[in-house]
Amino acid sequence: MDESTLFLPAIADSEDKSCPLKNRIRKNYRHVRKWAKRTHTDCFRVYDRDIKEYPLAIDFYAGRFSVQYFSYNREDDNPPSDLENEVLQALYSIFAIDSDVIYWRTRVRRTKMQQYEKLNEEKQFFIVHEYGVKLKVNLHDYLDTGLFLDHRETRLKVASLARGKSVLNLFAYTCAFSVQAAYAGAAYTKSVDLSNTYTEWGRENFLLNSLSLDNNEVVREDCLKFLDREIASRRKYDIIVIDPPTISRSKKMDQMFDIQQDYVFLLSKALRLLVKGGTIFFSTNSRRFSFDQSLFESCSIQDISKKTIPIDFHNQKIHRCWQISAT
Ligand SMILES: C[S@@+](CC[C@H](N)C(=O)[O-])C[C@H]1O[C@@H](n2cnc3c(N)ncnc32)[C@H](O)[C@@H]1O
Repeated sequence: MDESTLFLPAIADSEDKSCPLKNRIRKNYRHVRKWAKRTHTDCFRVYDRDIKEYPLAIDFYAGRFSVQYFSYNREDDNPPSDLENEVLQALYSIFAIDSDVIYWRTRVRRTKMQQYEKLNEEKQFFIVHEYGVKLKVNLHDYLDTGLFLDHRETRLKVASLARGKSVLNLFAYTCAFSVQAAYAGAAYTKSVDLSNTYTEWGRENFLLNSLSLDNNEVVREDCLKFLDREIASRRKYDIIVIDPPTISRSKKMDQMFDIQQDYVFLLSKALRLLVKGGTIFFSTNSRRFSFDQSLFESCSIQDISKKTIPIDFHNQKIHRCWQISAT
């Protein structure tokens, strides 16, 4: 199949009263598919804990499925076998797929040390599309897939402002934000992440979209150290994206990163890299995070969380996001 072809199979509209899970997935998929075709996207959520008895999130990635089970006590996240079978049956009967394209994600509370642990080494990469941009994902080998679907609209927002601009993407992961910005015409992007695996993956995402790495730099570095070096270099950016993990600890870092403890430092340094009239997009998935906006009185801060939750996400608390500009 051509790399630019979307994978969005049509499905029958046959209701099965005996299985509410199946009905809901079918209904959600049919609804989102119309939007997906229009926007050239084939990765989205098809079930988001919609029915209490089915505490699951199911993501569609171009014909493959990433399934998360939310156990009541987060110690054991193996789904009961009845539920696992029901998911398999539901997806099989709607999409006529086999169990080998269903990947169960583990969500056991990640210890501080093993947040980005590799699970397997099979390199099962494939390509999905988001607003026309190609991105590599892997549902098998890592804890996360390579693309956080909940930030699709935030990426679109960044891209909509990026034409001709310079964009800095901190904690860039596989560079999805900066690839979207570059695709939308950003003059220059720089993406910073601590991980070799993800910076390499990010470079491949640029190349996949025929975007040159000459004006789309990908830097492997601790963002906290990078900020000081970048301030010293006097480079400035029109747009800065900051989407850090809640907590991160790695041998490559001198000290642990904790969003609640470090956000003031992070934002203050990032503001020094921002051109007058520039914009920071700051986001967190941490539910406990508390943002003391009075510490940034010289900024205009807008909570854009609601606007950045995609239509396929029914959990409005999946992330919070702020648009910050220095006045
Ligand atoms: C939550 S993800 C970021 C998601 C990303 N912004 C996106 O939208 O795809 C966390 C990323 O932060 C990186 N990371 C963690 N601590 C870091 C640090 N101190 N400096 C740079 N990157 C770090 C991890 O390697 C991982 O790729």
